[in-house]
Amino acid sequence: MLTTNFLDFDFENPFMNASGVHCMTIKELDELSTSAAGAYIMKSATPEKRAGNSEPRYYDVPLGSINSMGLPNLGFEYYLEYALKQQENTKRPLFFSVAGMSVAENIAMLKEIEASDFAGVTELNLSCPNVPGKPQVAYDFELTEETLNQVFTFFTKPLGVKLPPYFDMAHFDQMAEILNKYPLAYVNSINSIGNGLYIDTTSDQVVIKPKEGFGGIGGQYVKPTALANVRAFYTRLKPEIKIIGTGGILTGQDAYEHLLCGATMLQVGTQLQKEGPAIFERLTKELASIMTLKGYQTIDEFRGKLKVID
Ligand code: FUM
Repeated sequence: MLTTNFLDFDFENPFMNASGVHCMTIKELDELSTSAAGAYIMKSATPEKRAGNSEPRYYDVPLGSINSMGLPNLGFEYYLEYALKQQENTKRPLFFSVAGMSVAENIAMLKEIEASDFAGVTELNLSCPNVPGKPQVAYDFELTEETLNQVFTFFTKPLGVKLPPYFDMAHFDQMAEILNKYPLAYVNSINSIGNGLYIDTTSDQVVIKPKEGFGGIGGQYVKPTALANVRAFYTRLKPEIKIIGTGGILTGQDAYEHLLCGATMLQVGTQLQKEGPAIFERLTKELASIMTLKGYQTIDEFRGKLKVID
């Protein structure tokens, strides 16, 4: 019932982890691989291993989470080696995420992926809000275009981009115009809402250490923004560019709403962090029950069919 065709592969269901959650080590990746998730993605890699920002750098709050991880990861080669081994045992495509500190680093990693035997999907993360001194690439439209221009001179494997949230119709239009110029496989909307601030009311103190407490917000807080971004890109991008909906998915109902807005795959971040990989079993059951109640046999019957008021 939840089978999802994405990039010519039938995934058992549309659910995945969001990059950054439960996907840094081989142990965590293996746990995702044996969970009920339809697919999974690795932590965004930088060319070399990175320790990331100082701790505490992630904090659960009642309506979501705040984080400033700073791209801690075990380095590009660690994830490439894992991916190459993993794909020997399964036909299910693996998602590889890269987040260089510069255009040159992104190009270098993508060239290695292109030259390798990696047969999965690559996500170019243009939206990490947490590296001090490095603004999110996708808020700089010229830099985004320059990056994609360079990438598509050599990259031929399926590639998606992870975007930050946008908040203005003009920005949806401008970004969609840029993205539509390229043979992108998908866009993933949204990364966390960057640079929020959460205060512990007992201590009058911020709850994470990096950047004096500023960090990316996820969870329930971000669902309306995520849905708007999914919808805005679904209605503006050429149909070949699919949407991965990320942000505020806690229940089957949240997943249903992302699909109604036009998402094909769905990623879960904060709530996966809170519940662990068992969440995927709950979400698949909840989504299937909603579909049964509404009389749908397949997701394609309602994907994108959000109604507006005439
Ligand atoms: O700080 C981080 O590692 C977050 C990365 C991201 O949001 O893409």
